[in-house]
Amino acid sequence: MLYHILAVGDVVGEPGLRHLERVLRPLQKLKNIAFTVVNGENASGVGLTRDQAERIRDAGADAVTLGNHSFGKMQIKDFLDDASWLLRPANYTGRAPGHGCEIFDLGGIRVRVMNLIGRCDLAWGADNPFTAADRLLAQGTAEFTLVDFHAEATSEKLAMGYYLDGRVSALWGTHTHVPTADERVYPKGTGYITDLGMTGPIESVLGIEPWQSVETFLGGLPGRYKQPEGPCKMQGAIFTLDSAAGLCTAVERVDIR
Ligand code: FE2
Repeated sequence: MLYHILAVGDVVGEPGLRHLERVLRPLQKLKNIAFTVVNGENASGVGLTRDQAERIRDAGADAVTLGNHSFGKMQIKDFLDDASWLLRPANYTGRAPGHGCEIFDLGGIRVRVMNLIGRCDLAWGADNPFTAADRLLAQGTAEFTLVDFHAEATSEKLAMGYYLDGRVSALWGTHTHVPTADERVYPKGTGYITDLGMTGPIESVLGIEPWQSVETFLGGLPGRYKQPEGPCKMQGAIFTLDSAAGLCTAVERVDIR
């Protein structure tokens, strides 16, 4: 049986949250989506609150993944231990609150969602994400395994795609907020895209007010991140997964404005 799984790129700020709330459920209905994973680590710009995490779930996410800003709002740390559907990178140290891998029940089908963080130019202190993935895959079985690899370097994401090809159903990158045009099914059947893109203001620099970003590059003070008002986009990808093989048959990018 074929299942359509939606992965949504980093939701940025209140404009991104409002757009997600507006367009996610109609897209799920239109595309017959069975399971949805949303990256929410930028819901308050840097990090997210419990209220924002719950808004993402109420908007239609079955799982919410995070990244390098997992603890941007420290108030989230207690909630991370309580909410099974909210995942921080699994290869963070065991001293960090929360967990990074969870198995969800999709009408008798087990869907394992794994959140990993890259080390190249990002989380240098994290455990090796490649060997962390091996360890997590050895713990129990699931019909589908989905991986959000939150990483900066395209090389690290592509290498992870080959490393896990045929062992996970779908693997997508988040963090860089710009969608890549390389969605495909890898040779051994894993659906892949280097980056999903983002959910937030169209006229922005990765979701941030453009002139605030320009000022930073001119050498000025960065200040607290602001998100511009105006039209938004929701970017991501739909993976068609075959439950008999646990692998992917097609990948389609989405960009809802
Ligand atoms: Fe990030």
